[in-house]
Amino acid sequence: MAKLTIEGNHPLSGEIKISGAKNSAVALLPAAVLAHEKSTIYNVPEISDIEYLIDIMNLLNCKVTHEGDALVVDTSNLQNKPIPEELSVQMRASYYFMGALLAKFGRVEMSFPGGCNIGARPIDIHIKGFEELGAHVEIIKNRYIITANKLVGKRIYFDFPSVGATINVMLAATGAYGTTIIENAATEPEIVNVASFLMNMGIEVRGAGTKRIEIVGTKETKEGIIEVFPDRIETGTFIIMGALIGDNLKIKGIIKEHNEALLMKLDEIGVKYKINNDVMTISKCEHLKATKIKTLVFPGFPTDLQQPITTLLTQAEGKSIVEETIYENRFKNTYDLNRMGAQTSILTLNKLEVIGPRKLVGTKVIATDLRGGASLLIAGLIAEGTTEIENSEYIQRGYSNLVTKLTKVGAVIKASE
Ligand code: UD1
Repeated sequence: MAKLTIEGNHPLSGEIKISGAKNSAVALLPAAVLAHEKSTIYNVPEISDIEYLIDIMNLLNCKVTHEGDALVVDTSNLQNKPIPEELSVQMRASYYFMGALLAKFGRVEMSFPGGCNIGARPIDIHIKGFEELGAHVEIIKNRYIITANKLVGKRIYFDFPSVGATINVMLAATGAYGTTIIENAATEPEIVNVASFLMNMGIEVRGAGTKRIEIVGTKETKEGIIEVFPDRIETGTFIIMGALIGDNLKIKGIIKEHNEALLMKLDEIGVKYKINNDVMTISKCEHLKATKIKTLVFPGFPTDLQQPITTLLTQAEGKSIVEETIYENRFKNTYDLNRMGAQTSILTLNKLEVIGPRKLVGTKVIATDLRGGASLLIAGLIAEGTTEIENSEYIQRGYSNLVTKLTKVGAVIKASE
């Protein structure tokens, strides 16, 4: 079990550079099996999920080499093999091999994907999408065997604009005859990143970033090349830290359009910042105001910043309400936040009340999931005394070089086993 120890109340100043987006990179790597022989993916974050995906790529006989911040993927000897449970359960994004291998070989066999324990997280929309393209899906215990003699493009409607299903069905549709149209697709930036990669390989994709995406299937692909977008959730997490304990903290790599909902909420709360090109400068803000947050699909407020912003709201004056509409189990961080001195109460399954401001005091806490862990980390940075976060491997899953980056800007933080 990994542990982070944080000595609170050290101002953050200097520059932090945002890494490539986890949720793009974990889709781009499986998508690389669709390219002709080789892909180069630049700006890949150094996170454990990527290492697990590389293990799966190696199993499939792909050679993956690190070249600086790029991954070079050689798929010239690619082989289709069942993905064993010990590899696929390591991270949820392993499910992108379903769409990619189905398109490439017409068959994929793997266990149900893993991921953070933040709710039921079914994959029925992915499966329905594959079936609509003509695939047969057999589920034996937790193993999925998905086969198709021939995938045929079709107009598919999603009951919910799922990020994962949009990308997965896009990947599968590249191997279908004719055109697939996804209606009510997710519009998150990660989808645009993956679509750009596919287009770069020579696959026709139209409308990524809108609710209607068209994919024209083809096996005639070229080598792939793509740069991973900066991580909008990492960006948001550092912005929240800056608002609480920054001293002219500079955050480099911001794409404002990807963080609009967060920035507008911060304006409401009374957070002051300056943005110059892709650099934000932010310092600790006094007299933060309580607000209401409701998580929604993009461009609404991202569920992945709900737990981090809850820590900010513990320092805002008055009563804030946080409503989580994407997942049903995403307030687990509040148990430990309260132990640190916060005053939060779960009103209903998806509604949280936060009364502030409350002084936080360091103690031993446990990360129960990635973003919940991030919320405790933010709390540790502003708390009086020392905070120890157990199970911090959850946090390292989503934040590239976290300890190095924070130490460089003045945080007193140590990772240990
Ligand atoms: C992705 C992100 C995750 C983020 C989430 C929402 C990755 C690897 N992870 O997760 O960080 O929190 O988007 O922005 O990119 N659902 C179904 N059936 C399905 C698929 C989803 O009911 O087939 C439900 C889920 O249980 C959840 C909601 O839809 O309640 C959102 O899921 P989805 O958009 O698919 O998120 P993920 O792709 O899992």
